[in-house]
Amino acid sequence: DASDIEKGTYPHYMLKEIDEQPFVMRRIIQKYQDENGQLTIDPQIIQEVLNADRIYIIACGTSYHAGLVGKQLIEKWAKIPVEVHVASEFSYNMPLLSEKPLFIYISQSGETADSRAVLVQTNNLGYKAITITNVPGSTLSREADYTLLLHAGPEIAVASTKAYTAQIAVLAILAVATAKAKGIELDFDLVKELAIVANVMEMLCDAKEEMEKIAREYLAVTRNCFFIGRAVDYYVCLEGALKLKEISYIQAEGFAGGELKHGTIALIEDGTPVIALATQEHVNLSIRGNVKEVVARGANPCIISMRGLETEEDRFVIPAVHPMLTPLVSVVPLQLIAYYAALHRGCDVDKPRNLAKSVTVE
Ligand code: G6P
Repeated sequence: DASDIEKGTYPHYMLKEIDEQPFVMRRIIQKYQDENGQLTIDPQIIQEVLNADRIYIIACGTSYHAGLVGKQLIEKWAKIPVEVHVASEFSYNMPLLSEKPLFIYISQSGETADSRAVLVQTNNLGYKAITITNVPGSTLSREADYTLLLHAGPEIAVASTKAYTAQIAVLAILAVATAKAKGIELDFDLVKELAIVANVMEMLCDAKEEMEKIAREYLAVTRNCFFIGRAVDYYVCLEGALKLKEISYIQAEGFAGGELKHGTIALIEDGTPVIALATQEHVNLSIRGNVKEVVARGANPCIISMRGLETEEDRFVIPAVHPMLTPLVSVVPLQLIAYYAALHRGCDVDKPRNLAKSVTVE
């Protein structure tokens, strides 16, 4: 659809694509719903998942980060062990595979050479593969046995945003559909939960001014920035840091809350920005303890928490969603903060230096 690839009134594709996320969530629900309103996945794909004793997710960059979240969803809901691997390492450092592995390739473009190289290998070994991609007919889609589409619409900005949340949503649907096929009872309705996610995304997209303020306050002049989080927040921190690095050229690192102190805390100086995510109840106290540790070394903390877990020191509170689906919403402020940080620093948001939208060389 041509209107999809117009920037319209937006100054940058990235901002447009961030804003499209609520719409993409709703479209994914619609595309994966059957006539009874139930979320459903091609039964052949479900059969492959049921046949597997272990799932290997292979991806690069932002798609790899979505895979890390997907692992949690599949293990927790569908009770199948999952490993997530960076494609470029996997090709020569293949782990000892289980007896009945199933491969899931996550690639927005479906053209990433590193991921394709692994797919060629696993195809040669005779293993089944599913590609989760935004581009029907792409190389990874054609060469895998099955495809799950993201329905995110064309993503033009080099820094991936709506594809990341779409990938997590599709992985959530796969996890729930598998659980259902295994007769595992889940105490929530994913259609409802994703609809809530879409609404919360919308509210977050309306918080641009606040995100701009945070970017200006914390990131206008700094040379580095840390993101800390525990449990699934940690994976979102990896993605938040990648977004910031890609487009603002600030050296940013995502850390597991408990790990920063084992070395990297040496880098904390007076005023070093530390963005902390606190969306998980079971680690809320410990992540806040980690914030205290860095504040004691001079860090300038910016806590982004979820409603119900917030304290007075928090800079921004995200409306509550299902605890396993928080990455779908907590990433939005981080995308916006990266966007505004890049703007403030005069960077070319849509076409950052040294990067390509899809990397077709190994
Ligand atoms: C490139 C892009 C990244 C992207 C990665 C994987 O490096 O700059 O934004 O995450 O490739 O791309 P894919 O299309 O396979 O998801």
